[in-house]
Amino acid sequence: MNVLLTGASGYIGGELRAALAEDPGVNLRLLVRDKGKLRLGPESRAEVYEGSTFDEVFLRRALSGVDVAYYLIHSMAAKGDFEELDRRSAANFLAACLDEKVRRIIYLGGLGCKETASRHLLSRIETGEILSSRPDRIQTIWFRAGIIIGAGSASFEIIRNLIRKLPVMTTPRWVRSFTQPIGIGDVVRYLAAAWDLDATENLVVDIGSEKMTFQEMLQRAARVMRLRRWIIPVPVLSPRVSSLWLILFSPIDFRVARSLVDGLRSETIVMNDNARKYFSRIVPIPYETAVKIALKSEKR
Ligand SMILES: NC(=O)c1ccc[n+]([C@@H]2O[C@H](COP(=O)([O-])OP(=O)(O)OC[C@H]3O[C@@H](n4cnc5c(N)ncnc54)[C@H](OP(=O)(O)O)[C@@H]3O)[C@@H](O)[C@H]2O)c1
Repeated sequence: MNVLLTGASGYIGGELRAALAEDPGVNLRLLVRDKGKLRLGPESRAEVYEGSTFDEVFLRRALSGVDVAYYLIHSMAAKGDFEELDRRSAANFLAACLDEKVRRIIYLGGLGCKETASRHLLSRIETGEILSSRPDRIQTIWFRAGIIIGAGSASFEIIRNLIRKLPVMTTPRWVRSFTQPIGIGDVVRYLAAAWDLDATENLVVDIGSEKMTFQEMLQRAARVMRLRRWIIPVPVLSPRVSSLWLILFSPIDFRVARSLVDGLRSETIVMNDNARKYFSRIVPIPYETAVKIALKSEKR
């Protein structure tokens, strides 16, 4: 199967690259904006196409002969109107996939619903809707994940830094919202199992491990790190102050931190049973185990 992986220089794409390259059923092609960013391991045999989703001619070339295409792209770090960029990028990608007769698009977006979604999550939902808007001609498997626990994940970096640096945290009230984090290894397992899934209809697949509040998530990670931490939610922190609070204590870019905080204010929980139904062999590892693995690989 000819498989194209976009976002191959990003966090999720970077983790998925090696898993796909080791799959004997996959003939892998990578799409990146800058080849110089790639440090290739077993995937060094993959064909690399250098260009952007805003270049329609390039996209058609990169998708020529492709059966399955992974869409792991967002414009959150771009200056200006990221929603418009995300919209154009997804529409170009879908149009090129239709022209090149790609059979399946696999996309990873965020958990949550439109009513309470942040700007970033709304844009992720819109991207999923655009990609899956032609079920008559192309199937889309749309995964949705909440916070991803892994070394190098922006959300995990925030959690780790807050716990390490603050014995007592006065936090925004949103720490009582529910969430369902998932380890990066499990995210990669779901994505890597999707290219040859035996299904023909469009699917939305929500993935996550245990349901807990953000407060529990911080406290349970603190226990793994063998640190005693006190968390005191206060009602007065606005989203802007919350983001400032995060950036003071973590090494995350302000725009990214702001989007993440906006996202944390609403519930991000699994809302369908499709992971168990279609990927019954994958059982997500417990949250504490994912934290341990992330801390270990960060040390390495
Ligand atoms: N990370 C998480 O915690 C998390 C959680 C839930 C869902 N997700 C979803 O997973 C997907 C991937 O996220 P990520 O965390 O891997 O993001 P990331 O690390 O920021 O990577 C984004 C990738 O998109 C590429 N890109 C951006 N604009 C592009 C364009 N116009 N043309 C070609 N490539 C472009 C970037 O290339 P450059 O390297 O050239 O910038 C980069 O490789 C997103 O849909 C996100 O919503 C992520």
